[in-house]
Amino acid sequence: MQLQVMNSPFNQEQAELLNRLLPTLTETQQIWLSGYLSALHSTASSVTSGANLQAAPVAAEALSPTSYPAASQEVTVLFGSQTGNGQALAEELSRRLEERGFQVTLSSMSDFKPNGLKKIRNLLVLVSTHGDGDPPDNALPFYEFLHSKRAPQLEDLRFSVLALGDSSYEFFCQTGKDFDQRLEELGGKRLCPRTDCDLDFDEPAAEWFQSVLGTLTETLEVPAVVTEVTMAVENGQLSQQLAYSRTSPFEAEVLENLNLNGRGSNRETRHLELSLEGSNLQFEPGDSLGIYPQNDPVLVDTLINEMGWNPEEPVPVNKKGDERPLRDALLSNYEITVLTKPLLELAAPLCSSSDLRQLLESGREQELKTYIKERDLLDLVRDFSPWGVTAGEFVSILRKMPARLYSIASSLKANPDEVHLTIRTVRYDAHGRDRFGVCSVQCSERVQPGDTLPVYVHHNPNFRLPANPDTPLIMIGPGTGVAPYRAFLQEREETGAGGKTWLFFGDQHFLTDFLYQLDWQKWLKEGVLTRMDVAFSRDTDEKVYVQHRMLEKSRDLYQWLQEGAHVYVCGDEKHMAGDVHATLAAILEQEGGMSPEQAGAYLAGMQQQKRYQRDVY
Ligand SMILES: Cc1cc2nc3c(=O)[nH]c(=O)nc-3n(C[C@H](O)[C@H](O)[C@H](O)COP(=O)(O)OP(=O)(O)OC[C@H]3O[C@@H](n4cnc5c(N)ncnc54)[C@H](O)[C@@H]3O)c2cc1C
Ligand SMILES: NC(=O)c1ccc[n+]([C@@H]2O[C@H](COP(=O)([O-])OP(=O)(O)OC[C@H]3O[C@@H](n4cnc5c(N)ncnc54)[C@H](OP(=O)(O)O)[C@@H]3O)[C@@H](O)[C@H]2O)c1
Ligand SMILES: Cc1cc2nc3c(=O)[nH]c(=O)nc-3n(C[C@H](O)[C@H](O)[C@H](O)COP(=O)(O)O)c2cc1C
Repeated sequence: MQLQVMNSPFNQEQAELLNRLLPTLTETQQIWLSGYLSALHSTASSVTSGANLQAAPVAAEALSPTSYPAASQEVTVLFGSQTGNGQALAEELSRRLEERGFQVTLSSMSDFKPNGLKKIRNLLVLVSTHGDGDPPDNALPFYEFLHSKRAPQLEDLRFSVLALGDSSYEFFCQTGKDFDQRLEELGGKRLCPRTDCDLDFDEPAAEWFQSVLGTLTETLEVPAVVTEVTMAVENGQLSQQLAYSRTSPFEAEVLENLNLNGRGSNRETRHLELSLEGSNLQFEPGDSLGIYPQNDPVLVDTLINEMGWNPEEPVPVNKKGDERPLRDALLSNYEITVLTKPLLELAAPLCSSSDLRQLLESGREQELKTYIKERDLLDLVRDFSPWGVTAGEFVSILRKMPARLYSIASSLKANPDEVHLTIRTVRYDAHGRDRFGVCSVQCSERVQPGDTLPVYVHHNPNFRLPANPDTPLIMIGPGTGVAPYRAFLQEREETGAGGKTWLFFGDQHFLTDFLYQLDWQKWLKEGVLTRMDVAFSRDTDEKVYVQHRMLEKSRDLYQWLQEGAHVYVCGDEKHMAGDVHATLAAILEQEGGMSPEQAGAYLAGMQQQKRYQRDVY
């Protein structure tokens, strides 16, 4: 029987909710719910009448949430995240679990005490991969523990892993794969299979959420009514979420676009100032800005000509089936400058040539890797023609255009409604053609003041100023790695923070590449910046890098560390970040008399206390 306003004490909205909920309940759930409501009622009346709490009816007692072993409704969500994606997803998942009645423990892997692992029954791991298949900084200690002999057997554990990554890397989602495999080796059972997410992670992550929430709700029997109400609340919240975000970027007007490098420099670095007026976007020093770029129109037109397509032909731009003219879709919606193995696998059945299929055969991995490197879609279509496919079929195998992140170089307190960026232009030659970084070259060549760019704020809780304004800061940032420190010092100037600050900056030439030189000099004069050491690598016969300057000042640097300084490293991930890390360890050994193991542990401890943070790319 359908509940109606006329035949029940419920209003229209409640009747509709219940009519949707009740037919979905199993018999056990119905009995449970009736017992739960009676228990709730009897408890409430006992309290209001001031009498002692009475025992709940048997059905409710047998089935109420509190009567399950406490552990069964507990879910631990652990995240390992460098740039914040995994953390944001873990927070969202925890919120949804809590709304469904689960007791959730949410923790960064670096804050998690591994000796508690044995007690956990339900574990959800969200972890990205960085470096070359390496765990993010805050996952490393837990990763190492789990892969060591000290890791306990976990026969009572149920787990699932959401792996974040980028399929253009050789070791795609490697850290997630490692956790998944290791937890199984230790005896854990999968709640749901691992999901590997590419840069466009929204859809697969949402599917994984649904899958783990479904399995946990089914097997742990949390109050189903909570789930239904939660869905209503979530829908309400979703409709209120009109804020600009990664999936709904704000069109920010370009106010300023300058080259920071002097004439004669090898490099070009754009200082962009964008207006956030009307967006209500907020950020803190340490956050990044995401920009959705456009592909080079010359490359798009060459590709369309090469394939003999009609630029106006409507093609799909998403799974919902929305369409745009081909040229617009290739400019804005699809990635055309990166080749990946998954893309080649999808492309192989579409081309008549057997060469591509042969390249993908096992045993030719190295050849494939060499082919993919520094080639783009234009190379692919030229090298493996003829292609007997429509433009629509072809674009549907492409990855969505990923946003590019840029460390924010300004403070909202100092520049309300604005965001400043420091963007190094990527240009190089490969396989006989000039190659242009999509976003950086767009910003350099095709973006004028007055134009707009689609942007969003990417919060990075792993790169933050210390809460205590008196804490000393050591900031290491060669090249564009210096960008966030401009934001840090603007913020400290505005807030009048009293802590000492020390900047290590490096680039190629003093005369042409001293980014934001006037800003640093002004802050040095005013005392906002206490010390600055610079390393211009190509002004001397021998290369000089920031870590050389750190070593030269090792005694003072150690003293600052002893005084509780926070250390920040930003910029190149491949070489600089590792070299600077090794130098910090060397300074601890030299000045603190530590063994290599002690120095390593000291730095790991600093990372865990968030006194050593890195924003490297
Ligand atoms: C958290 C974070 C913060 C960042 N902050 C900044 C910042 O403040 N400033 C900044 O400039 N960048 C920053 N980046 C990098 C930025 O996001 C982009 O990756 C960069 O601007 C290149 O994007 P693009 O679209 O111009 O180039 P793409 O089209 O994405 O091409 C870049 C790719 O080109 C290849 N490549 C680049 N140079 C060469 C070369 N010399 N030889 C061969 N191949 C090459 C590499 O494969 C590289 O991955 C940051 C990245 C992250 C993750
Ligand atoms: N993921 C991406 O898509 C992407 C895109 C753009 C940039 N990046 C990375 O971001 C980094 C920053 O680029 P950038 O152009 O701003 O500056 P950069 O290339 O890092 O150069 C800045 C300074 O650092 C020096 N340097 C080189 N190797 C070093 C090392 N091992 N340790 C310390 N210093 C070192 C350079 O010297 P020399 O040049 O004289 O050696 C230069 O003086 C790039 O190196 C690149 O790896 C990544
Ligand atoms: C410097 C750098 C290195 C990366 N290395 C890898 C890699 O080796 N394998 C991979 O699958 N993804 C790699 N990625 C992609 C990240 O895993 C992906 O961007 C992920 O969404 C980041 O999540 P996080 O913000 O939680 O760290 C790398 C990203 C960066 C910036």
